[in-house]
Amino acid sequence: MIALGCDHGGYELMQEIKGYLEIKGLEYQDYGCFSTEAVDYPVYAKKVAESILDGTCEKGILICGTGIGISITANKYPGIRAALCSDCFSAEATRQHNDANILALGGRVVGAGLAIKIVDTFLNTPFSNAERHKRRIEQMEQAK
Ligand code: RB5
Repeated sequence: MIALGCDHGGYELMQEIKGYLEIKGLEYQDYGCFSTEAVDYPVYAKKVAESILDGTCEKGILICGTGIGISITANKYPGIRAALCSDCFSAEATRQHNDANILALGGRVVGAGLAIKIVDTFLNTPFSNAERHKRRIEQMEQAK
């Protein structure tokens, strides 16, 4: 199950992502927002982060205008590793190296075609399980 969350700046791109997930037969839980009316992105970052931390969802996708505010907020939750990506190389690397559990996108930054490729890469790339990456993630989780 994939958790989805966005603000008004990410709403339109999220509709495209939902269409892609539906074509692929991938299940998602949509935590909003549900229109282009202005809302506060931390509300949606929290909903998606908590759905991953409580085991409801395995991964998440968060979108705001830049992807910055919503990813910064998500990364405040211990155990969340949200990666803001605007290219497929980063989406692949963050799964392999960081075991990122949330992909953040900028709805005003990337077009729908590229965003869907980034989502596809993120969802289909496994964590490498390499010892060095596990060690670094452990260090990351303990950072204060
Ligand atoms: C909302 O206008 C905008 O600030 C938000 O979508 C995001 O870009 C914040 O980082």
